[in-house]
Amino acid sequence: MSRPKLLVTHLLFPEAREILESLGDIDYWREPDAIPRDEFLKRIAGKDGLVCLLTEKVNEETLAAAPQLRIAATVSVGYDNIDVPACTRHYVVATNTPGVLDDTTADFAFTLMLAVARRLVEADKWLRSGNWSGWQFDQFISTDVWGKTLGIIGFGRIGRDVARRAQGFRMRVIYYNRNRVAPELERELNAEYVPLDRLFAESDFVSLHVPLTPETRHLINADTLKKMKRTAFLINTSRGPVVDEAALAAALKAGTIAGAALDVYEREPLVNPDLIPLQNVVLAPHLGSSSLETRTKMAVLAAKNVAAFFAGRQPPNALNPEVLARGSEDVAR
Ligand code: DGY
Repeated sequence: MSRPKLLVTHLLFPEAREILESLGDIDYWREPDAIPRDEFLKRIAGKDGLVCLLTEKVNEETLAAAPQLRIAATVSVGYDNIDVPACTRHYVVATNTPGVLDDTTADFAFTLMLAVARRLVEADKWLRSGNWSGWQFDQFISTDVWGKTLGIIGFGRIGRDVARRAQGFRMRVIYYNRNRVAPELERELNAEYVPLDRLFAESDFVSLHVPLTPETRHLINADTLKKMKRTAFLINTSRGPVVDEAALAAALKAGTIAGAALDVYEREPLVNPDLIPLQNVVLAPHLGSSSLETRTKMAVLAAKNVAAFFAGRQPPNALNPEVLARGSEDVAR
């Protein structure tokens, strides 16, 4: 096969570029902002492979524009930007980047938890505005994180890493997951499986770690928010549409819950305008995995998935490996 033609929708980092450039001819989108959809559809035509970000949708429209495409590698663990069944129908292998961002994202969930409970962002803004006239006994009185009950919804790799950190904060950990995990793991993480309603009723902090699926869309809504304690905080580092943002803003305003810290939004980069003026919510621009070390690992992993495919091997993170079962002449042609 001649050198594959690849569309890469970000410059990524040198470590990943080195792998990709030794492999094929690369068309990079070089701007920091996401590639506009029409430009993406234009450039994907005639490409054999794609390395993209969660901002690019790989769906029927994309696949129709790219009849030659054989692999689509997203540099993210969440792959709700990729219509995997459509890829399978078009014999395109889809890959993601699991396993390399768990600790970093768990760190960020704790960053948000501490920031909102201890009112750090609010206090920082206040100090910078020149308001501080001296130490006061009851200034920015906040809420302890240590020793509280943490409810983790979604107990995959990231949820478990959040539970590991919670041990250091001497928290009680309860979790809800589609499938209960093995008893040894529950013992190791000191985590108790509970039904969802009990998790809402007992948690001081509810932290979301589920993928976005039809079942998890608006899992947090006006009804579930009412089931939470009035003193509780909601933390979301998963996907924005898991939370009904309008319902959350209303609940924060009404004091249905005490606060929230969000890294992800329903219609990124838009944020529900009702959230903006609220002091009891911390808003981050989707930074969960954004350490240099981790983003480098993610980019390299995506590049390695593409390299494995064009070398005729199974990409380590194939989401639809059944596509590879076809004859090699079809797959790596
Ligand atoms: C992911 O990997 O899914 C994050 O949301 C982006 O890094």
